[in-house]
Amino acid sequence: MCGIVGYIGKADAPSVLINGLRRLEYRGYDSAGVAVLDDGHIVVAKAPGKVSSLSDRARADWPAERFARVTMGIAHTRWATHGPPTEVNAHPHLDQSGDIALVHNGIIENYRSLRARLESKGHHFYSETDTEVLAHLIGDSDKGNLFQAVCDALHQVEGTFGIAVLSAREPEKIITARRGSPIVIGVGEGETIIASDASAILAHTQRVIYLDDNDIAIVTADSVDIRDLHNIPVTREIAELGLDAAAAEKGGYAHFMLKEIHEQPDSLANAIRGRLDFNLGAAVLSGMGTSPRELAELDRVVLIGCGTSLHAGLVGEYAFEDLADVHSEVQQAAEFRYRNPILGSRDLVVAISQSGETADTLAAVREAQQKGAFVMSLCNVVGSTIARQTGRGVYLHAGPEISVASTKAFTCQVAVLLMMALKLGRGRRFSRQDGIQFAREIERIPELVAEVIQQNDHISKIAEAYAHNEHAFFIGRGPMFPVALEGALKLKEISYIHAEGYHAAELKHGPIALLVEGTPVIAIACDIPGKDKTLGNIEECRARGARILGLITEGDDEAAAHMSDFISIPRCHPLVATIPASVALQLLAYHISRIRGCEIDQPRNLAKSVTVE
Ligand code: M6R
Repeated sequence: MCGIVGYIGKADAPSVLINGLRRLEYRGYDSAGVAVLDDGHIVVAKAPGKVSSLSDRARADWPAERFARVTMGIAHTRWATHGPPTEVNAHPHLDQSGDIALVHNGIIENYRSLRARLESKGHHFYSETDTEVLAHLIGDSDKGNLFQAVCDALHQVEGTFGIAVLSAREPEKIITARRGSPIVIGVGEGETIIASDASAILAHTQRVIYLDDNDIAIVTADSVDIRDLHNIPVTREIAELGLDAAAAEKGGYAHFMLKEIHEQPDSLANAIRGRLDFNLGAAVLSGMGTSPRELAELDRVVLIGCGTSLHAGLVGEYAFEDLADVHSEVQQAAEFRYRNPILGSRDLVVAISQSGETADTLAAVREAQQKGAFVMSLCNVVGSTIARQTGRGVYLHAGPEISVASTKAFTCQVAVLLMMALKLGRGRRFSRQDGIQFAREIERIPELVAEVIQQNDHISKIAEAYAHNEHAFFIGRGPMFPVALEGALKLKEISYIHAEGYHAAELKHGPIALLVEGTPVIAIACDIPGKDKTLGNIEECRARGARILGLITEGDDEAAAHMSDFISIPRCHPLVATIPASVALQLLAYHISRIRGCEIDQPRNLAKSVTVE
């Protein structure tokens, strides 16, 4: 979603800001802008579309000397909420005087009433955005102290914000603040970088400070002074990012998505490394912070998330019930937070989120904490808001995921959930021997995934036969049902083919009416319990002319005979098989999207982390 970069320090700040925005492009956006302080004046450049358009615009409109001499500014990529993605709606926005510039992530919910009040005082607005109202509010509150003006304005707003503010009247500082929308401050040598996401900071420094909600910071080239909104100083530690800048590059692959699919043997090895105890037949997940007794006494595991993370939770649900004999359920985070969930101290709530910033998942975490449940998270981004809010959980160690379509984070989420289920299982019904056996299966995951990736050319060929349909159905049973849901999500988000995932038994209860000659049905028919039933469902589809692409267990000739095309998945435990099967569907979606000429890494309308409700 929207991205913020702020910079103060050395010369050529416009280039630093625009390069920072490039690092945030993966988040999804539809316009961009930059404001710098030059010779005592704020100068703004904005453009609808890509950061490259903004860069062209700034280089065309601004003299080269400005690029060379300017040492501070703020910049933004906007994912439109209030008003279409036009130049006028793009950030930064200025206050009434034109001396204060603001970039903002989040939503100002009471902007209409604030705007009406300011209009009655003579303020004139150019855009349809909520952000411009906040810029004017800061200007209206400014009585010669920018920090105080921002505090006063923020006391009046309802909603969420991550902001960076620049004033021509106080040229040596940038003010930044957050509530519900992340802000990270990179502490460099004679330079300070503000960003909504650490990827914009990586090129400058590994030393960062994460702001907490209601923190406000006065940032100069060599200092960061953090207070709360009542001007009381607060202390925030400097953390080490521990991220390699090269990890956020394509590294020779045509797309980040393809790179991230290929990284999975390594990312899964990282997620699993050191977390299996083959002596005890258990999983070592110390971040969970629970005693064996607490785990043994759990009544229920509730998994919450959105999108792909929700699908990982659905696989986890099978794992917790099968391995740990504990009642488990999955809830969409937005639904969970508003439905007054019944929770108690013997319920374990696991929030699943790649970014750790998804607004609905974060709100669901807070709701579960309010109700006294054990709450932990399963996040990829270290130091993310959800990870910090829960204070306990398991990091995925998948490495930076740049493509909007989640791939390696999903498979690592499932792998970690399997390990959590093993950990719980050992405290409940699993014997040591059962545990060792399942741990051995988990250990094989990287190699199983590598075997699927070796079929890349085969899958690419198959994709040609399925790339020109406008509809597709994915079916599966048991733990392969969520894999079908995830396969359909992957295909629709990057190829714009209308794809639906169903339980294999469900098609004949309605959706089968949509099958015509040649409709693709992607059937996950691996050799797991229920396979024969799935083969029966496939025949129902074939009888109506559907073209069947099967995911079958390697060497299963009986299943192969039911398919028009098939991809082989190595034989393994049914729960473990969800991971290589998902990788096959990721490759299928990728190649179909490539053949259709879609924008794979940044699909239309989508954002990498959804920080609004
Ligand atoms: O960062 P999160 O895992 O919380 O994100 C949740 C969803 O927004 C995300 O999985 C989304 O569905 C992806 N586009 C899927 O590829």
